[in-house]
Amino acid sequence: MNTVPSVKTDVFIVGAGAAGLYASLHLPQPTEILVCDKGKKRSGSSPWAQGGVAAALGPDDSPDLHVQDTLRVAAGHADVSAVQVLCYEAPECIMELAELGCDFDRNPDGTLHLAREGGQSVSRSAHHEDSTGAAIMATLRQHASKRVKRIEGACLRLDVVDGRCVGGWVLTEEGVVRVQANSTVLATGGIGAIFNSTTNPAGATGDGIVLAWEAGAGLADLEFVQFHPTALAAGLGHQRVLVTEALRGAGAHVVDADGRRFLFDHHSDGEMAPRDVVARAISSRKGAWLDCRHLDPGIWQKEFPTVYSGCVRHGIDPVRDLIPVAPAAHYFVGGIQTDLDGRTTIPRLYAIGECSNTGVHGANRLAGNSLAEALVFGRRAARAIAGQRTGKPKEPMGDVDLEPVEIDADDSWVRLRDLCTNAMGIERDPTNLRSLPAALEDLARLPITDDRSVLELRSAAILARLMARAALLRTESRGVHHRIDHGEPVPEWAGVRLRLALTDLP
Ligand code: SIN
Repeated sequence: MNTVPSVKTDVFIVGAGAAGLYASLHLPQPTEILVCDKGKKRSGSSPWAQGGVAAALGPDDSPDLHVQDTLRVAAGHADVSAVQVLCYEAPECIMELAELGCDFDRNPDGTLHLAREGGQSVSRSAHHEDSTGAAIMATLRQHASKRVKRIEGACLRLDVVDGRCVGGWVLTEEGVVRVQANSTVLATGGIGAIFNSTTNPAGATGDGIVLAWEAGAGLADLEFVQFHPTALAAGLGHQRVLVTEALRGAGAHVVDADGRRFLFDHHSDGEMAPRDVVARAISSRKGAWLDCRHLDPGIWQKEFPTVYSGCVRHGIDPVRDLIPVAPAAHYFVGGIQTDLDGRTTIPRLYAIGECSNTGVHGANRLAGNSLAEALVFGRRAARAIAGQRTGKPKEPMGDVDLEPVEIDADDSWVRLRDLCTNAMGIERDPTNLRSLPAALEDLARLPITDDRSVLELRSAAILARLMARAALLRTESRGVHHRIDHGEPVPEWAGVRLRLALTDLP
């Protein structure tokens, strides 16, 4: 007999970042909402976002220009409808956030101050200093706390009955809880933690993407991982301090060991070139530095206090010193395949934000478009859920068995990160891509257990194998996917999106 405690809710949101919380605010009263988050120690990337949220709000900007920039950076691979939705709806979301109290920086005349980031042809990123994600999350948490109930733990599995998602199981401190829901939304963020150096927090292990895949949902574009060109190359450990692109927008130069600005050798926009170009150019050098010494020292406290304190923590004074930088895994372009309203291929299962894949970023994401995506598609999914027929809720089926696992998780994480970094870094060697699935098979076949670190390891291994498969299948270089054996884009591959489903386990 099943003794697992169970809770019922209208909407079950897995993930408490910008996408999930903004969606919760757009579900009509009196929708019951239960948000599952992994807890403080494993919180997601949203509060870490620095540079800003892109929207055509400036006098020299327009949604059409935002569309053009997004498509150009996306390297011929974006879904044009998704891009139009993003660029036309983002301004309203930003203004709504401002009305909710988000403390965006403003010009003396009261209009929003907009920063310029790579690939943007005009200044387009609304921001709060260089801690935009934290400001947005403070606003969203304040408002969402009045609307949602919370459950802390790891979502172990989704429950699909008669082809429809009816909730899932959560491992809490007190044990496993079954959540029965009319609609389930995955908003679980990215995967940066599977690489040796990342700007993401430790909890970015791809869990939601694997939950969707194990439930039978389609995944897409898994070969595209964006590396941020300028993470601080100082200190130990795999989590890196991000040195926001907005600093280059404010005039910082990228220089080599001889003090030469080399980015113009690679792209006519130099420091403002798309991220994939800058990341590859920097990684092809022996070292690269950000030179900010010519900038007004006042900008550090006023606009970039997060970067400043990150540098100082590592003994670097950016007013006087060059800042050593190197690329680090930053954003997962691929994810759970969805339509423009966050619907996955499983009825009543939605995905939004970084774990989703609408095709909006193509093969390379434009700066500032990730927070914009979280808001725009979070709101659209909430509206789609509100518009669904209610119907009779399906009774859940099945159960989750937890099995004991004896494994040294720390050692296994080191192995996994090394393999992922070698195979799926900025330059991809097919030999490493080919060998990765076998090398991670033991971790991918771990059972569901009550050790949260092992659960994350299992998700990371399953996803990494799928990513390697996709990266091997795409025999070209495009956007952030760069193969040493197929160094150029192949026209026949443009817009071809690799979709993997449950049957594709290597
Ligand atoms: C940054 O601040 O450089 C990152 C912003 C982004 O990823 O959009």
